Amino acid sequence: MSKSVVEVEGVSRTYTTMRGENVHALEDVSLSVNDGEFVSLIGASGCGKTTLLRLISGLDKPQAGTLALKGEPILAPSPEIGYVFQQHSLFPWLTIENNIAAGLKARHVYKQFKGDVPKYISLVGLDGFENYYPHQISGGMAQRAAIARSLINRPSALLLDEPMGALDSFTRADLQDKLLEIWRADGATMILVTHDIDEAIYLSDRIVIMTPRPGKISEILEVKFPHPRHRGGVEFLSLRGVILEKLNLASALPHPEYKI
Ligand SMILES: Nc1ncnc2c1ncn2[C@@H]1O[C@H](COP(=O)(O)OP(=O)(O)O)[C@@H](O)[C@H]1O
Ligand SMILES: [Mg+2]
Repeated sequence: MSKSVVEVEGVSRTYTTMRGENVHALEDVSLSVNDGEFVSLIGASGCGKTTLLRLISGLDKPQAGTLALKGEPILAPSPEIGYVFQQHSLFPWLTIENNIAAGLKARHVYKQFKGDVPKYISLVGLDGFENYYPHQISGGMAQRAAIARSLINRPSALLLDEPMGALDSFTRADLQDKLLEIWRADGATMILVTHDIDEAIYLSDRIVIMTPRPGKISEILEVKFPHPRHRGGVEFLSLRGVILEKLNLASALPHPEYKI
């Protein structure tokens, strides 16, 4: 048995809006993520995926339940947990190399680990782009730089909140392959939020299906077939059908109306 890195136990988070209404973003959510595992969270917009990532990252706190990283309570953000946002959040005034080094500098360990900078640039396939600025590279490359900037801190878990959401479908497929490569080479534990079922199947060991209002985990599915996964393969398509059904999208397709 692999050991668990992230433990979420009975977590609830309710927001109070400015009009005084309560929004039950998450209710009694429990999830355990193992060392080196790739887990995707999938569900309709508003079902609490970002809320759950923010809680795991220590950026937010629950009203009920506990969160732990390697057995220690998660109380505040730390480099131990990396966070990659939908829109890359590189510093526009720094080169790619300096963006990736920024985490080391913030932790005052740059001198000790500066040899890692070229290593992580290579890992995400950005050799030759060290001296470019974020606006000079594509969205997919910028996301890879953001991933390197987090991974260089050797986090125990990397949280990715729809990192491919803003990319076109070709760049997206490319980044998915790159992410798999990075995951294999680095051994990082990945928790990915996506609303793309194919992306979840292509990448994950397990897929966590969430339902909204209040946000709950409705099902956790294992993806057992090996990489590389063929998007048109029988196992792929059959799991896709299962997930669609669980998400109730299948039944949400418009029914033809007959009016004479
Ligand atoms: N700061 C906030 N104040 C009030 N409601 C919020 C806040 N953040 C999120 N919500 C609400 O909580 C629910 C879950 O949001 P979120 O976690 O962003 O969902 P997802 O990432 O799955 O789209 C949504 O209904 C959203 O409108
Ligand atoms: Mg979100």
